[in-house]
Amino acid sequence: MKALIASGGRGTRLRPITHTQNKHLIAIANKPILHYAIEAACNAGIKEIGIVHNSDSQEVPNTIGDGSRWGVSITYIPQINPGGLAQVVLLAEKFIGNDNFIFYLGDNLVVGGVKKYVDEFTKSNFNCWLTLSKVKDPQRFGVPEIKDGKIISIEEKPINPKSGYAVAGIYIYDKNIFTACKALKPSARGELEISDAHQWLIENNFAVGFSEITGWWKDTGKPTDLLEANRLVLDNLIPSNNGTIEKTANVAGKVIIEEGAIIKDSVVRGPVIIGKNCLIEGSYIGPFTAIGNNTTIKNSEVEYSIILRDCKIINVGIRIEGSILGNDVEVVEANGKPRVHRFMIGDQSRVEIS
Ligand code: G1P
Repeated sequence: MKALIASGGRGTRLRPITHTQNKHLIAIANKPILHYAIEAACNAGIKEIGIVHNSDSQEVPNTIGDGSRWGVSITYIPQINPGGLAQVVLLAEKFIGNDNFIFYLGDNLVVGGVKKYVDEFTKSNFNCWLTLSKVKDPQRFGVPEIKDGKIISIEEKPINPKSGYAVAGIYIYDKNIFTACKALKPSARGELEISDAHQWLIENNFAVGFSEITGWWKDTGKPTDLLEANRLVLDNLIPSNNGTIEKTANVAGKVIIEEGAIIKDSVVRGPVIIGKNCLIEGSYIGPFTAIGNNTTIKNSEVEYSIILRDCKIINVGIRIEGSILGNDVEVVEANGKPRVHRFMIGDQSRVEIS
C-alpha cells in the first residue's frame, strides 16, 4: 500500500493568505495542514508517499522534505496545469505501479486517522473504497446515492443531491482506478473529476465499497473551514507548558505553550496553542486560538482565531474574533490625532470594523 497526497491547486477561496503560501502549508494548531495527511499515512503503516504539487513552486518539497523525519520516503510529482483530481491520479501512475494506494486530499482533515479504512479495504475484495461523511451542504462535494447499503451512483457538486453525504477526500484504490481516469472527459468546469472516475467504476461493475466517517472530517477550502478545523484539532490536543507563565497570568483549560513563550498579566482560556518565542502581555486569549511562533500580543483580546507566525497585535481596542492573520501581519493602535483607522492591506483582503 502506498499513499498519494494532492497538494496542488491555487487555493483561490483562501486568498489573500494563498497569494504567498500554498494552502496545504497553512498552519492549523501551529502545524501545516499537509503534516496531518502525512501523519495519517504513516500511522496506517505506509512507507512510500507520493505528493503531487504545483510545478511552478518548490514550496511544498522545500517545506516537507524527503520524509525522513517521519521515517518514510516521499516522492514529489509535479503538476503543470491543475486539471482535476483524476488528473492527479494519472500523474502518479508510474509512482504507484501495481500497488494499491490511498489517495488523500492534502487539505482534508479527519480525526482518528485512516488506518481503519486501509484495513477494511485490505481485507475486502473491493476495487475502490470511499469514505463518506454527513454534511449540511452536500452541493459542495461529490455526493453518493445509496440504495440497500450500496453506492449506486456518484455526482460531483449536484444541484439536487441524492443523499446528505459528502464523499470525503480519502479514497483507497487498486490499479483499476487508472483505467477509469483514462476513460474520462473534462467536466463543465474543465476538470477530470474524481467523482466521474468513481461513477465509471460503478457503471463498469467494479466493486465500490464505503465507510462512514463517524468522527469529524473537514475539507479546509474556505476561511470558516480553517477556523473550524483549528477548533477541532485544538480540542483534541494534550496540554503542555514549555514556556514561562508568570505569576500575573491566569492560564486555564487545555493550553499548549511552546518553548520561549512568555505569558504575563494576561488571561488565557484554552483550548489554545501559543507558539515558540511569543510574548502575550496584558491580553486575553480566548478558546480555539492558535498563535504562531514569534508573535507578540500586547493589551489586546483574541479569540477563535488563527494568528500565523511573526505577527504583532498591540493596543487593539476591540476583541479580534473569527479572524485569520497571515505571517508577519501587524494590527496596532494608530498613534496621534485625529483618531483614524489606517490600512496597508494586500490584494483580496477583508477587514470588518465596527
Ligand atoms: C473535491 C472532490 C469532491 C470531494 C471533495 C472533498 O472537491 O472533487 O468530490 O467531495 O474534494 O474534499 P473540491 O475540493 O475540488 O471542491
